[in-house]
Amino acid sequence: MTQKIAIVTGAARGIGAATAIRLASDGMAVAVLDLNEDDCAKVVKEIENAGGRALAVGADVSKTDQVNAAVERVAAELGEPTVLVNNAGITRDALLFKMTDEDWDAVINVNLRGAFLMTRAAQKYMTAQKWGRIVNISSSSGLGNRGQANYSASKAGLEGFTKTLAKELGKFGITANSVAPHFIATDMTAAMADKLKMSFEDLVETYKKQIPVGRVGQPVDVAAAVSFLVSEDAGFTSGQVIYVAGGPLC
Ligand SMILES: NC(=O)c1ccc[n+]([C@@H]2O[C@H](COP(=O)([O-])OP(=O)(O)OC[C@H]3O[C@@H](n4cnc5c(N)ncnc54)[C@H](O)[C@@H]3O)[C@@H](O)[C@H]2O)c1
Repeated sequence: MTQKIAIVTGAARGIGAATAIRLASDGMAVAVLDLNEDDCAKVVKEIENAGGRALAVGADVSKTDQVNAAVERVAAELGEPTVLVNNAGITRDALLFKMTDEDWDAVINVNLRGAFLMTRAAQKYMTAQKWGRIVNISSSSGLGNRGQANYSASKAGLEGFTKTLAKELGKFGITANSVAPHFIATDMTAAMADKLKMSFEDLVETYKKQIPVGRVGQPVDVAAAVSFLVSEDAGFTSGQVIYVAGGPLC
């Protein structure tokens, strides 16, 4: 079997880093893509130290030229990508009346346009090989969340995008799914604690009480779901949203 080539965006830390490391341990060669190439070095080293292959790639997923160049570079230096995890994401939370144009555009551009640009650039390698796996990291906030009009719109949009990819690309042996995490302990949720002027530990305690399994999520919990969705075994699972949330959300 030839080694599969995966791209994980926003992979320098958090959920993306855990996913890159998991896919490498599953046997894939992984492009670790983030805004700054140097920031990807730690994850690349961890994969290489475990005997895997990885490539650090610097690119802003919201910029067409950078995305196209990054995907071409992966194809040339690592191999033609047939697995894509669109994980890069940002928040700019504010109640609607305080949300600026910049808050709206920044979040939509990274979370939604970024996934579109990456997928458009990578799909040609998947259709050529008549096999592909696309996973878009959504969020429980896609169901609606106070103070996150921009973020929840971007994630709900990502889920519609995913279902359309599943319909358009299915005949090429390509599946597309969304993974929607709830609270995962990362820098993103640490920043949320700062914004709420509370300690991260107190925020975790608050969420723990609401989550049926009695704990918050870890990046590896999301990586495990992605690992299944990009596997050979998941070929008949497409167009779905998998909640990684420690319980049902409503
Ligand atoms: N942490 C959570 O509780 C949670 C819950 C639901 C969904 N998510 C989603 O999971 C994904 C990862 O979240 P995380 O918690 O690991 O966040 P994080 O902030 O720890 O990591 C995000 C990574 O994306 C990178 N990134 C940001 N903008 C980028 C751009 N334009 N181009 C390339 N890379 C860029 C950052 O540099 C960073 O390394 C995001 O899409 C987020 O919306 C997170």
